[in-house]
Amino acid sequence: MKYKVGFLGGGNIAKAIIGGFINSGLYKTEHIIASARSEKTIRELQSRFGIAATLDNALIVQQSEIVIIAVKPYMIDAVITPLRTLFTDNHIVISVAAGVSTQTLKQYFDDPVKLYRVMPNTPAQVGAGMSVIFTDVSEDEPSCQTVKKLFESVGLVEVLNESLVHACIAVQGSSPAYMFMMLEAMGDAGVKLGLPRDKAYLMAAQTMLGSAQMLLETKMHPGALKDMVTSPGGTTIEAVAKLEESGFRHGVIKAMVACADVSETMSKK
Ligand SMILES: NC(=O)c1ccc[n+]([C@@H]2O[C@H](COP(=O)([O-])OP(=O)(O)OC[C@H]3O[C@@H](n4cnc5c(N)ncnc54)[C@H](OP(=O)(O)O)[C@@H]3O)[C@@H](O)[C@H]2O)c1
Repeated sequence: MKYKVGFLGGGNIAKAIIGGFINSGLYKTEHIIASARSEKTIRELQSRFGIAATLDNALIVQQSEIVIIAVKPYMIDAVITPLRTLFTDNHIVISVAAGVSTQTLKQYFDDPVKLYRVMPNTPAQVGAGMSVIFTDVSEDEPSCQTVKKLFESVGLVEVLNESLVHACIAVQGSSPAYMFMMLEAMGDAGVKLGLPRDKAYLMAAQTMLGSAQMLLETKMHPGALKDMVTSPGGTTIEAVAKLEESGFRHGVIKAMVACADVSETMSKK
C-alpha cells in the first residue's frame, strides 16, 4: 500500500484530522491521501497540507491501509457502494459519519473487514480533540489499538458502547460550535465594554482553555470551581445571576438534548 491512511471526503473534519496527524508527527504528508468531489477541494488539500488528493475514491481504498470515511452521512451509500469489492481483510475502515450506525455500515462490508465508528471533533486540528471510538470489540484487539493510537495523536480518546453515541455527539462532536458561540458572545461583550476585539477573544479563549484544564486536572466539581470565583456581593455573582435569569444552563441542556434527538432520528433513517 502506498499510503498509511486515506480519507474518503476532504471536508471540515477530514482537514481537522489531517492537520492533527501531520502536526503531531504521527504521519508525514506522503503517508496521507484524501478524495473530494471538487477540483477546488483537491487543490486546497494539496496546497494546505502537501498530501496527495484525488477525485478517484477507488484509489483511496486500493492504496491505503486505513480508510477513513469522512463524507456526509447521506453520501455514504453513493460513495461506498461502488467501492465494496475493493475492501480487503487487511483494511481498517473508520467511519466518522454522524448518525450512521455500525449495523448500517456493516451492510457495505464483508465480515473480516475491521470496521470502527469514531466520533472525532474539530479541535483535533490543534491536537486537542476529543474522540470516541464506539465498538464492542475488546480494547486489546490490535486493530482497536491502531484506531486508538491514530486518534490519540490528535487528542483524548474514549472507547464506549455505541448505545451512548447520541449523548457523545451532543457533548463532544457538535459542542465546539457552542463553545465558539460562547467565545463570540464574550468577544462582543468585551467590545461593547471598550476592549479591542482581538484582545477580547484572546482573554476569553485563554480563560475557557484554562478553566477546562482546571476541571480536568483538579477533577473538582465545576460548581465548586465556579464558587471559587464568586465572592459575596461581588462582580462575578452578579454575572452568574444574570446568566441564570437568561436561562443559561437550561438553554444549554435543552440544546444538547435536541442535538442528541436529531442524531437519534438520523440514525433511524
Ligand atoms: N464537522 C465536524 O465537526 C464533524 C465532527 C464529527 C463528525 N463529522 C462527520 O464527518 C462527516 C463529514 O463532515 P464535514 O463537516 O467534514 O462535511 P464537509 O465539510 O461537507 O465535507 C464533506 C466532504 O465530502 C466530499 N465529498 C462529497 N461527495 C463526495 C464523493 N462522491 N466522493 C468523495 N468525496 C466527496 C466533499 O467534497 P467537496 O469539498 O469537493 O465538496 C467534502 O470534501 C459527516 O459525516 C459528519 O457527520 C463532522
